[in-house]
Amino acid sequence: MTFRTIMEPFRIHSVEPIRMSTREERSACLEAAGFNLFRLRSEDVAIDLLTDSGTGAMSRDQWAGIQRGDESYAGSPSWFRFEAAVKHLFPYEHVIPTHQGRAAERILFSQIAGPGKTIPNNTHFDTTRANIEFTGATAVDLVIAEGRDPASEHPFKGNMDLAALELVLETADVPVVFMTVTNNAGGGQPVSLENLAGVRALCDRFGVPLFLDACRFAENAYFIKTREPGQAGREIEHIVREMASYADGMTMSAKKDPMANIGGWLALNDDELAERCRTMLILTGGFTTYGGLAGRDLEVIAQGLEEAVQEDYLRYRVRSTAYLADALAAAGVPVVRPTGGHAVFIDARALLPHIDPLEYPGHALAVALYREGGIRACEIGTVMFGRRPDGSEEAAPMDLVRLAIPRRTYTQAHFDYVAEVVAYVAAQAEELRGLEITHEPRQLRHFTAAFSPIR
Ligand code: F0G
Repeated sequence: MTFRTIMEPFRIHSVEPIRMSTREERSACLEAAGFNLFRLRSEDVAIDLLTDSGTGAMSRDQWAGIQRGDESYAGSPSWFRFEAAVKHLFPYEHVIPTHQGRAAERILFSQIAGPGKTIPNNTHFDTTRANIEFTGATAVDLVIAEGRDPASEHPFKGNMDLAALELVLETADVPVVFMTVTNNAGGGQPVSLENLAGVRALCDRFGVPLFLDACRFAENAYFIKTREPGQAGREIEHIVREMASYADGMTMSAKKDPMANIGGWLALNDDELAERCRTMLILTGGFTTYGGLAGRDLEVIAQGLEEAVQEDYLRYRVRSTAYLADALAAAGVPVVRPTGGHAVFIDARALLPHIDPLEYPGHALAVALYREGGIRACEIGTVMFGRRPDGSEEAAPMDLVRLAIPRRTYTQAHFDYVAEVVAYVAAQAEELRGLEITHEPRQLRHFTAAFSPIR
């Protein structure tokens, strides 16, 4: 007998209290934080769905790795365990450890980007785009049209538009093509092996390297296994290695699928570029066998990589995300379809059509979810992406609110609570109002901007 319930494939071993608060307390917290959820104290949050990055629960064996960590400055056994675990899945020649994903991005783009260059991606995440633009280069998003349509049921909405990529490769100076797996900013949507092979073929034709932004590689591989024809019988590890085989390197945040609280890496085959990147690492991050991490962090990542590709875990992971999305859809809340791996994305522009994109419907919804239920989510829309490098402002392609699910952290009852709060807020959608920005920095404004509600 196969039972229908896909339960958490773990028991809870240590617990953290959640502090309950009242609506009045949360309203005061919002005022104090300039209506920016990044500026809240996390103790004032009941269910924290701001990010799935670094917020997962570590396993018994990861905690054991903390004890095993060897803190030798150079050549520690923890480094060799980390390097072997990375190369087992991603057999690139050079592995360069970094303290998180954006450090790998900064090192790589400092070497290959710069004024006049164009770097295509299915969809750049915010730090990737910002690191590219910081060098004076241009970041372009070339996801397929279905990837921009929240309602489309296409199974691989993270795929690259090959015709659009070909045009960019013909007309622009492209030092590297990137593919983000899964496509975070586009709704946590996967990329198929077929599409990766197609991108590879174009890169070969134009002699341009292909890199993966591989933060959620295991979730992407699970979607390939369950959605791509002919893949159902394969082991996740094999699919991951095939994904890796299409690329010449990768940037990685170990805070996502590897379930570490910190860490990342840059991996690549090009010897000469690797040497330049290692020099940058020593200059800014640390020696080449720790890269700004402690030896114990390297152990945690090595162990996490083994756990990330276990199928029981991935089945539970993808199912629990879909469970929340299904509950919201049943309550009539417009969510991005099909459900991605690490998050449920609410289509705030569809839920709040009376709020102009430049009055930030996604942000208005995120603020309401916190005020009513203590849930912290993240706007992925015009606040995050609306300011152009030339200073002008325009609506982002979509105004989404991301409920990111930390790995192994919340139970089904927590998801039931979240669904109830979202349905309650959605039922009063017409009463929500937009916000205006009263202060913003020059780049990455969503992290620190201050807002004021439009009365
Ligand atoms: N690339 C993608 C696709 C990401 O989602 C992130 C981080 C990074 C790169 C940067 O990695 O945080 O380790 O420096 N995303 C987090 C999020 C912050 O909430 O989605 P990092």
